[in-house]
Amino acid sequence: MSQLFPEAVIRPVELAEADGVVCIRTASASDVKSLSVYFTDLSPTSRNKRFMGARADLAVVAAQCLAKTDRPDHFTLFAEFRQAGRRTIIGETHYAYDAAARHGEFAISVADAFQRMGFGLQMLNAMETRAIDLGHEMIAGETARTNAEMRGLARKAGFSDTGLGDWQSVHLAKRLSRQP
Ligand SMILES: CC(C)(COP(=O)(O)OP(=O)(O)OC[C@H]1O[C@@H](n2cnc3c(N)ncnc32)[C@H](O)[C@@H]1OP(=O)(O)O)[C@@H](O)C(=O)NCCC(=O)NCCS
Repeated sequence: MSQLFPEAVIRPVELAEADGVVCIRTASASDVKSLSVYFTDLSPTSRNKRFMGARADLAVVAAQCLAKTDRPDHFTLFAEFRQAGRRTIIGETHYAYDAAARHGEFAISVADAFQRMGFGLQMLNAMETRAIDLGHEMIAGETARTNAEMRGLARKAGFSDTGLGDWQSVHLAKRLSRQP
């Protein structure tokens, strides 16, 4: 992608007001501790939305997210803020392909201080591009009916309600196709 950011999956974004750069990259098995710290630092509200409920075992969750990084159809992308030689995870999206259902399932979060800056949409786009490259045709996710930000993000990214949710949750899906 660039000589400075060889592991970036899309062009890094400069945050002039914070004098840093946000880079979207693929997570590896060695990132478990950083991901656990990231989940711990999310506000309780964002964390509850991310996991659709309370989770106390965040180190275990982080390890589970990164357990199958050797399989191309299970991957995690990070948005990482880089400033003065320091790297901090400020967003993550996890993707896992369900061969029986023939679609990829995803979940996503962005650190509270970095929300509504476009990083959720950028990670979603990068994830879709990776899924298309893998030959996957459908991507789906589930969120609480009350989660306005996720529903707004999904709508903007072209997802529709499949009607498969229940009174508490909404199931969203999108057919994947390469943009011309
Ligand atoms: C959902 C979430 C990932 C969105 O990430 P984000 O980086 O803030 O989103 P973006 O800045 O890329 O926003 C893209 C679009 O999403 C929609 N959106 C984002 N936040 C919104 C909000 N609070 N209310 C309504 N729509 C919202 C808007 O359409 C927005 O486009 P716009 O800014 O041009 O209006 C983030 O709010 C988050 O981490 N929430 C907590 C965890 C969670 O709910 N995860 C989903 C369950 S898997």
